Amino acid sequence: MARKIGIVTGGGDCPGLNAVIRAVVKTAARRGWETVGILGGFEGLLEPQSTLALDAEKLGNLLTRGGTILGTSNRGRFSAKTGHGESRGIDVAVLDDAKKGFQKLGLEALIVVGGDGSLSIALQLQNHGVPVIGIPKTIDNDLAATVMTFGFDSAVNCATDALDRLHSTSESHRRVMVLELMGRYAGWIAIYAGISGGADVILIPEIPYTYESVCAKIAEREARGRHFSIVVIAEGARPKDGAIATKGAQHADREARLGGAGERVAAEIESRTGKETRLVVLGHLQRGGSPTAFDRALCTGFGALAVELIAEQQSGRMVAFTGAQIAHVPLEDAVGHLKQVGLDGSFVRTARALGICLGD
Ligand code: F6P
Repeated sequence: MARKIGIVTGGGDCPGLNAVIRAVVKTAARRGWETVGILGGFEGLLEPQSTLALDAEKLGNLLTRGGTILGTSNRGRFSAKTGHGESRGIDVAVLDDAKKGFQKLGLEALIVVGGDGSLSIALQLQNHGVPVIGIPKTIDNDLAATVMTFGFDSAVNCATDALDRLHSTSESHRRVMVLELMGRYAGWIAIYAGISGGADVILIPEIPYTYESVCAKIAEREARGRHFSIVVIAEGARPKDGAIATKGAQHADREARLGGAGERVAAEIESRTGKETRLVVLGHLQRGGSPTAFDRALCTGFGALAVELIAEQQSGRMVAFTGAQIAHVPLEDAVGHLKQVGLDGSFVRTARALGICLGD
């Protein structure tokens, strides 16, 4: 039976989105199915519709290319995420129009590639009668029900490369270098990269910090003749008696824009220790570029399994990485549960075992 399926990428972009699209299109084509790409996020389903027929024979270089050829959005009528694991319901009229758009395209199922916000929209569409399969994406790795989201490994590699480069210049100039990393309310990028890049201090949202603790670590290194220090801070980290740092105008219908965490800690370190302290905010570099080999394999496995699930007439599922294999779980297990770094988990324990200061 010839089938037609849709694929949409939602929320912030990250390395590996195109690798997922490639895997879906190739796997579907081998079954004789057509794949339609929805352009510009979910809005592409609504009138005037914006779609792209994805022909497996015409795809090229998608495995390595960053971004998404379909475009994406975390704004507008489909903005579902408003904060710390919180989401809002999409207008029923908008869900109705999306369902009509899905039917008009003659689709049998929709593959939604996204993080918590987009997958919460996917769940609402599923409950509204649109058969959906989710694929977990975000550099933040903060989605429940999967050990790893794709894009995370690529972001960690980018951050680790930055730390390697900061190490040599920091040592030459006897400076403190502060590197601010993304991750929103979860410290996964910071703790993985901090450990991989040999940071002396790692500050994550899960562990509110004190300046005394951070500066004591820098002083202890000075006393040992180590005249430079590397501090990694997640954008969502905050001092024990302070709030998360945000930047720019905040909108009620979308997530707060984080920013300023690194600036705050760098200024305080310099004034307390008297050591020259420089800040690097890695920002969107973490979301750009080619996916790592691990992410390419994960994306390909995710995309292939998503199509297989549709072939088995399954829906309302999300493909997930168990650490050993690619499996699938109910979509509702994944959304609305923020996955943070465990305070007694392996990575916090590893950092402590090595004497890395976590700010507490
Ligand atoms: O969720 C991914 C992410 O890159 C976060 O780490 C970051 O806080 C946010 O998106 C930035 O979003 P935007 O590009 O919309 O400012």
